[in-house]
Amino acid sequence: MATMKNIVFSLFIHVLLALSVSGRPASFVQDFRVTWADWHVRQIDAGRAIQLALDRNSGCGFVSKSQYLFGRVSMKIKLIAGDSAGTVTAFYMNSNTDNVRDELDFEFLGNRTGQPYTVQTNVYAHGKGDREQRVNLWFDPAADFHTYSIFWNHYHVVFSVDDIPIRVYKNNEARGIPFPKFQPMGIYSSLWEADNWATRGGLEKIDWSKAPFYAYYKDFDIVGCPVPGPSTCASNPSNWWEGAAYKQLNPIQARSYRWVRINHMIYDYCTDKSRYPVTPPECIEGI
Ligand SMILES: *[C@@H]1O[C@H](CO)[C@@H](O)[C@H](O)[C@H]1NC(C)=O
Repeated sequence: MATMKNIVFSLFIHVLLALSVSGRPASFVQDFRVTWADWHVRQIDAGRAIQLALDRNSGCGFVSKSQYLFGRVSMKIKLIAGDSAGTVTAFYMNSNTDNVRDELDFEFLGNRTGQPYTVQTNVYAHGKGDREQRVNLWFDPAADFHTYSIFWNHYHVVFSVDDIPIRVYKNNEARGIPFPKFQPMGIYSSLWEADNWATRGGLEKIDWSKAPFYAYYKDFDIVGCPVPGPSTCASNPSNWWEGAAYKQLNPIQARSYRWVRINHMIYDYCTDKSRYPVTPPECIEGI
């Protein structure tokens, strides 16, 4: 019971602090700009949601105007309904630095009607990626909006779906494993065609007779240290996301994370012996 009380209390504090750091909810118009094919990005629902379109001519994408160092970014996404095979919808953070890229990826790989969408996550730290994991979702992500978030502090990065952690990348710098800690990252989203790899390894092609394909985004929520911004922000230990409650998953989160890994994970680079005869170090130390 005491634990429950603590969790409720910490959620309460969390909300208070979130309000004081960000001041207002993020808005598409104020906080983002289109990166690619603006005629395919449309505001709907009186500006409350964004629609991305993919057709034979083009996909499209958008990015945050600021970059951020640590914090939490979340948005609600409703994926392409029906036959989405060969499409990829993405939500990711990227430092935009070629050689020493840091990147945290959610990629939603479409599928034929009735087949499960796959969520692929990846982590690049100091230029090194190739850390794919895949889970099949436990609901139909095209039927409704669901919340996808990236939480990032000095201790770990946590990818969550509806507040259920699906991936944790721990800071194991002490063991010589790189951790994205120095570079701010922008928040990106995009929709594009990738039928050479996305669905069943590229076997399933896009059915263009079903185009255009639409994905929807809303409720952008960004809490973190904006860059440019106060240079002392990122290292401030009193930022709520650096608090004791956030150094590791709480018991409830740890339990749901285990549930995801046991029941919904379909691929983990950590156990792919054909790719990695020697288990990558973060897989041994990290999980
Ligand atoms: C698509 O559906 C097939 C068959 O159910 C499944 O094996 C696969 O993991 C699903 N996802 C992708 C991206 O291919």
